[in-house]
Amino acid sequence: MPATAVLGVQWGDEGKGRATDYFSETADYVVRYQGGNNAGHTIIVGDQRLALSLIPSGVLYPQVVPVIASGMVIDPKVLLAEIDMLTNKGIDTSRLRISSNAHLIMPYHRKLDAMMERYLGRSQIGTTKKGIGPAYTDKYARHGIRVQDLFDPKIFRKKLEVALEEKNKILTRIYNQLPMDPGPIADEYLAYAERLLPLVSDTSLLLWEAIRDGKEVIFEGAQGTLLDIDHGTYPFVTSSSPTAGGVLTGVGIGPKDVHRVVGIAKAYISRVGTGPFPTELDDEVGDRMVEIGGEFGTVTGRRRRCGWLDLVALRYSVRINGLTDLFLTKLDVLSHFDTLKVGLAYTSAGERHDEFPRQQRVLYDCAPVYQEFAGWGTDITGVRHYRELPDEARTYIEFVESRIGVPIRWISVGPERQQLVEKA
Ligand code: GDP
Ligand code: IMO
Ligand code: MG
Repeated sequence: MPATAVLGVQWGDEGKGRATDYFSETADYVVRYQGGNNAGHTIIVGDQRLALSLIPSGVLYPQVVPVIASGMVIDPKVLLAEIDMLTNKGIDTSRLRISSNAHLIMPYHRKLDAMMERYLGRSQIGTTKKGIGPAYTDKYARHGIRVQDLFDPKIFRKKLEVALEEKNKILTRIYNQLPMDPGPIADEYLAYAERLLPLVSDTSLLLWEAIRDGKEVIFEGAQGTLLDIDHGTYPFVTSSSPTAGGVLTGVGIGPKDVHRVVGIAKAYISRVGTGPFPTELDDEVGDRMVEIGGEFGTVTGRRRRCGWLDLVALRYSVRINGLTDLFLTKLDVLSHFDTLKVGLAYTSAGERHDEFPRQQRVLYDCAPVYQEFAGWGTDITGVRHYRELPDEARTYIEFVESRIGVPIRWISVGPERQQLVEKA
């Protein structure tokens, strides 16, 4: 299949890293199209555990060209540290290509992210404080600084000075912080530039040519559909478009060049940060899910909120992304529960909602309508063939499949590369 989008359909951390790693085995290019180092994508191969934040999860395969496309926001210090981390592990990163149009995360973006969150107090979003929101805000306000600005130190210094004139007023007058000095920031960034510039290219052209030539290209989403700036649970979202539409704008290709859209979903659901979450388990069942699923953030170490699979949300994500297939992860975590529940719809004030309510306020009052399933109670982490899964597990999977209208083609039963079941 020439070009496949692999993206999250919940609130992130669905297992996109491990799924992308799976699709990368035969791929020529693996591309991140949005987000930045708010992402934490884990890949486990044998006793090696990798957590990637900026570099696409295909980097482990020697034939893959990893690409950071223009829709991303890049913190160059973090990117270089990630390159060094991989190099130290013996992984070659020399094939990495970075879009000249991608925006840079600057030190004031990180500072403003933290300050804005503090200012919001109890209404805070619970961001990763990596500067993502402020960097995208500057992009859309047309005040952003791009990778290509690093090519010309004079232009870079000028843009930084202009940006800091405004940012320093905000930092000092609104947030009561010390102003930032452009000189040391420019020196720091221009030093990073020396290492980054050889990797910079026209990634839109590169990928258009790759698709034209029938190469296999994987677009790896970060975050998830319910964190999308347009289609997520706004304002408790990220500042980019993790959905399938984001592939097109984030890479610079047309819709006919994406041939398959694979959604990644956990067999339950989790969320880090604040915002509505109808099937959240605020009890000991939820605590067990966190414990058994190891549900702590890859980036911030925060405890993830957990709950039962939500089919309202899943069907929504199938629609928003035009999913062709689903990849279900962490089914093994459900082996530890006697009874499983799946959210079919919501009720609020006596009204049933089979779709997300039009007004988000209503979502806070929604109680899920559950269907119960018997658990299987046996270890499935060694299963590699669909027919070997317990009957109860197959019933669960086939029920979900029947309700969402797209095939579940892959089921992962453990975090390691080999712990995967392909369903015909
Ligand atoms: P991503 O952000 O979508 O790439 O997901 P993360 O890497 O942040 O979180 C997923 C976590 O679940 C990681 O720790 C993975 O190693 C782990 N994981 C992925 N698939 C499975 C699975 O099938 N079973 C179990 N038990 N863990 C898994
Ligand atoms: P991966 O790619 C889970 C959440 C944050 C917060 C909101 C906004 O690993 O799935 P931001 O820093 O982006 O402005 O934070 O989005 N968030 C994630 N949650 N997985 C992620 O990435 C996330 N990236 C951001 O917790 O609620
Ligand atoms: Mg993650």
